[in-house]
Amino acid sequence: MHSITFNPGPSQITSQVYNDIRHACDEKLLEISHRSPRFNELSEKTITELAKYLELPDGYEIFYTSSAHQGWEQALLSTTNIQTEKTFHIGLGSFSEKWAKIADRLGYDFGLESVPYAQAPDYQNIEVPSDVTTLCVCHNETSTGVRMRDEDLVYLRSAYPEQFIAVDITSSAGAVKIDFSLADAWLFSVQKAFGLPAGLGILIVNQRVLEKARSLQSINPLGAFGLPYQEEKMRTKFQTPATPNVLSIFLLGEQCERWNKIGGIQEIERQTDEKYAYLECLVKKSEKSEFLVKNPAVRSRTVMALRANEEIVKQAHTKASEHNIILGSGYGDFKSTGIRIANFPSVGMKDFKILEKILYL
Ligand SMILES: Cc1ncc(COP(=O)(O)O)c(C=O)c1O
Repeated sequence: MHSITFNPGPSQITSQVYNDIRHACDEKLLEISHRSPRFNELSEKTITELAKYLELPDGYEIFYTSSAHQGWEQALLSTTNIQTEKTFHIGLGSFSEKWAKIADRLGYDFGLESVPYAQAPDYQNIEVPSDVTTLCVCHNETSTGVRMRDEDLVYLRSAYPEQFIAVDITSSAGAVKIDFSLADAWLFSVQKAFGLPAGLGILIVNQRVLEKARSLQSINPLGAFGLPYQEEKMRTKFQTPATPNVLSIFLLGEQCERWNKIGGIQEIERQTDEKYAYLECLVKKSEKSEFLVKNPAVRSRTVMALRANEEIVKQAHTKASEHNIILGSGYGDFKSTGIRIANFPSVGMKDFKILEKILYL
C-alpha cells in the first residue's frame, strides 16, 4: 500500500476527506433519496460553496456530470448544431486531442490544430476558420504539463467574441485562480485538484450556452444529460434527473467549504505556487533531469512533467516504491523517459519534501 501518491489523478486523498467519507456513512447520507429535502440542502451547499470557491461570476450555472468526458460531450452538444455547425480544437497533447475525437464520434464537422509535443501554441497565430461555432481549448494538458496563460484566454475571448469558447480545466480547476468570465463553458472532474474520489464531473456554462442548448433540443441528440432537461430541476431544487453521485456531491461541498474558510482560491493558489517553486529549485539543481516543458511561462503549475534518461526514470520509480510512494509516469511518447508530479492541493509541502530523496540520488 502506498503512503503518498504524486499521480496526476486520481489524486491523493487527505485525511479530512476520509473523515468526510466516514461522516457521510455515519449520517446515512449514502442512503438518502435524491428527491428528498436533505439532498436538496446538501446539493445547494455544494453549489454555493463551489461557486464561492471558484469566484464564479453572475450568470454562470453549475451542472453535475459523471466525468470530464461527459463534460466534453455536453459542452459540444449544448453549443454546436451537429448538422450545420463546426467545432475547432487546439491540441496540446493527448487529452485535448481526445476531445476532438469525441467531436468526431458524435458526427461533428471538426477541425484540429495540434502543436508539436510538449510545446504551447502561439494562440495569436492559430488560424481558426471563420465559420467555426465552438472553439475548444485545454487549460492544462495533463499528458505533457503545458498550460494556457491568462493572457491566452484574454486573447481568445477578444479575437472570437461570437464563437463559443469551451475550456477543459480538469487538471487545473481548484488549484489555481481562473477568470471564468473569459469563456462560455468550463468542465472538469473532481479526482484531480479537488482531491476527491473519481465519479463526479462539473460543467459550468453561461446563459448564452443555455439559450443555444434550448434551441438545439430538436436537432442535437442531447440525450439523457442534455442541459435543457437539467436546468429547471437544478435551479429550483439543486437536483438532477438521474440519480447522482450523492457521496461525491457531499464531499465536494465539504472540500470547498474547508478551503473557503482558510482563504479560498487565493490561499490554495499560494500553496500551489510554493510547492511549484520548491520543485523548480530541485530540478534546477539536478543534472540528471529537466522539465519537459522548457518555457516556464507555459509550464503547468499543477502537473509537473520531468524528463530524464530511462535509467534515471527507472531508478526514481524504484526508489519511490521503496518509500511506498507512487510517482506519475510519463505519458504516451515519453512514458519511459518521463515522470509526472501532481501538484494538487491534497499533496502538501510535507509530501513534496520527500521528492528530494527520491528524484535525485
Ligand atoms: C485534461 C483532461 N481532460 C479530461 C480528462 C478526462 O477526465 P475523466 O476521466 O474524469 O473523464 C482528463 C483525465 O485525466 C484530463 O487530464
